[in-house]
Amino acid sequence: MRQFPIFFTVQDRPVLVAGGGETAARKLRLLRKAGARVTVVAPRAGTEIRDLAEAGAVTWRAREFMDADLSGAALAYGATGIDAVDRQVSEAARRAGVPVNVVDRPDLSDFITPAIIERDPVTVAVSSGGAAPVLARGVKAAIERLLHPNLGTLALFAERFRGAVKAVVPEGRARLRFWDRFFDGPIAARVLAGDERGAVEDMLAYVNRRGREANGIVHIVGAGPGAADLVTLRAQRLLEQADVIVHDRLVGDGVLDLARRDAERIDVGKAPGRHPVPQEEINEILIAQARLGKRVVRLKGGDPFVFGRGGEELQALADAGVRAEVVPGVTAATACAAAAGIPLTHRGHASAVTFVTGHKGSGDAPVVDWAALARSGATLAVYMGVGGAAAIAEELSRHGLADTPVAVIENGTRPDQRVVTGRIRGLDALVRAYGITGPALIVIGDVAGLARADARRAPLAAAV
Ligand SMILES: C[S@@+](CC[C@H](N)C(=O)[O-])C[C@H]1O[C@@H](n2cnc3c(N)ncnc32)[C@H](O)[C@@H]1O
Repeated sequence: MRQFPIFFTVQDRPVLVAGGGETAARKLRLLRKAGARVTVVAPRAGTEIRDLAEAGAVTWRAREFMDADLSGAALAYGATGIDAVDRQVSEAARRAGVPVNVVDRPDLSDFITPAIIERDPVTVAVSSGGAAPVLARGVKAAIERLLHPNLGTLALFAERFRGAVKAVVPEGRARLRFWDRFFDGPIAARVLAGDERGAVEDMLAYVNRRGREANGIVHIVGAGPGAADLVTLRAQRLLEQADVIVHDRLVGDGVLDLARRDAERIDVGKAPGRHPVPQEEINEILIAQARLGKRVVRLKGGDPFVFGRGGEELQALADAGVRAEVVPGVTAATACAAAAGIPLTHRGHASAVTFVTGHKGSGDAPVVDWAALARSGATLAVYMGVGGAAAIAEELSRHGLADTPVAVIENGTRPDQRVVTGRIRGLDALVRAYGITGPALIVIGDVAGLARADARRAPLAAAV
């Protein structure tokens, strides 16, 4: 950073501009916008400066610059375009301790005037540190396009309600959230669209509700496989805004740490064979919380729509008339494959991949047609397969895959990740030999043999 960026208050303070031409007039315009009391020193001046002086809006001293002109000045500009005079202004200002800018002369300046994007009272300043002013102008143009023309109106609208909001939402974090939602939500959109009157009514109601939505919403969010930096930016933003987080067992602590500290957390985690909160009850919790007007994040391991029962929750919410949206997450198959260096499809090895559950249905009949899968030649990514490893190995071996490579990835992407490899016929022994008890994904197919050596544990003799 070549300069220290600050916004300097010049409201009602004297600023000196040496020079009477167009360059000086440009600085004068900016300074007047910021409320400065400007004195121009120049033997001759253009029409704009003369008119302003006549109207009493600026002081014009129609003579050469003198050191004494700097007396009491908060800032000084050298804008004469005459090297000797600008240098004199710079040296005198530095002697007097007045910050000085000489137009296009960084060597004579203490500060620069950046490219400015104005949505008063919002101001964005862009500088290239003098290295490439044209590039700074390009950046300014890009930002101009990004910022809504009525952004300033929105800032002033918010300012009108600051006192009232502070009174009803005294706690700092809650207030931050209140404003986050406001700027992100429909009232701000109304102000930007030019309907300030309608927005005032909505805002009064919103303030009276202390920032609660009139109608709540449930975001069914994929938390990924465990590593906190594998959640999406959208998931992270929603976690920061949520009032309530209803989460599963497989959601990593690091991911939960992304949530607001004061958000309510409801753990509805299911361990295998243990169902502390039945699915119907989870649906009821989501509906009830949303009906209280809250922003609910239903946080699920991996992707909500891959063996996540996200579909059932979405259906229940729709039936109850509750607004709901789904945010995808990185599913265990892709995450574990990446962590183990196993491409799920690979030229010459596998042209398809099937996500399949190894969990048996409630009856005796397997829910999966293993014979068809064995014939398909696709890579199989088996979720929840550890408990049924023996049965899966038996089924697939019976259908010709006994020698097919297999990789088991336990706690994929987490610090305690383990990758073990072998052949289908030894799958059960492999799982037992390594005591695989954490969540694990089983990859079956030629590609499993490509597991990265540095991610893989050497197979135990008993398991091969
Ligand atoms: C109920 S399913 C949920 C799957 C999740 N919706 C997804 O998209 O990854 C749970 C199973 O996903 C797999 N799984 C989830 N996270 C895993 C991880 N970090 N490492 C290995 N397997 C994982 C395991 O097979 C586990 O038994």
